[in-house]
Amino acid sequence: MTINLKNQNDILNLENFNSNEIEYIFNDKPINRLKTKLQLEDKKKLLLELKNEIENIDNCELKNNATQLVFADGNIESKIMVIGEGPGQKEDEQGKPFVGDAGLLLNKMLDAIQIKRNDIYITNVVNYRPPNNRKPEPSEINRYSNFLRKHILIIDPKILILMGSTAMESLFGSKIKISKERGVWKNLIIHNKTYLTMITFHPAYLLRQAEQKKYSWADLKQIRKKIDELRISV
Ligand code: URA
Repeated sequence: MTINLKNQNDILNLENFNSNEIEYIFNDKPINRLKTKLQLEDKKKLLLELKNEIENIDNCELKNNATQLVFADGNIESKIMVIGEGPGQKEDEQGKPFVGDAGLLLNKMLDAIQIKRNDIYITNVVNYRPPNNRKPEPSEINRYSNFLRKHILIIDPKILILMGSTAMESLFGSKIKISKERGVWKNLIIHNKTYLTMITFHPAYLLRQAEQKKYSWADLKQIRKKIDELRISV
C-alpha cells in the first residue's frame, strides 16, 4: 500500500515532525532505517573530497597568498545555504567564513528573521582570501564556481541565498546587475536539479551603504515567508 500525500509540503511537515534519524517511506516494503545516516556519512565524505580538491588547486594567486582554506561553516544537513564572496582577514585567520564585521551583521540579519546561524550552512564563492581583500577576478570566480556548484549539489538546500554581486555572478553570469536581480525568487539549475534562489545585498555592502538596508529587509522577509511556506525547520 502507498499513501498519497497531497503535496510536497505534507512530506516536509512529516519530516519536521519526527527525528532526523529515520527516513519515512510510505509503503509496505522493508525500510532501510540506516538510509539517512548513511546519506549523512556520504555527505561528509563528499565534502571532505571537495575540500581536498580545493586544497590541491594549482597556480592560484588566492591560495598562494592566503593563510589557509576557508571552506564552510554550519549545519551540513541544513535546507538553507548562504553564499558570500570570499574570506577577509578575520576569516583567513580563523579558517571560518563570516566571522568579521560583515559576519556580525549577517548574524543580526538572520536573527531578525528568527534564523539561528548554526542551523544554516555558509560558504563563499572563493575559499581563499583575495590579497588586500580585492574582489575576485572574473577568471577566479569562474574557476571556483565549479567547486561551488559541487558544494551546492552536496548540501542540496531547499533555499539558496546569494549575498552580493560576486555570488550572483558566480552562478548566474556577469551580464546582470544585482540592483535589478535582487529580491525575486529565481531558479538555479545545476545538473538537472533546481534550486530556489534569492539574490540579496552583501552585508559588507550594507555596512557601507546603510540606506540600502530597507531593500535587504524586504528580501529577508521574503526568505522568512518562503521558509514558513515550505515548512523548513530552522
Ligand atoms: N565576506 C564574505 O563574503 N565572506 C566572508 O566569509 C566574510 C566576509
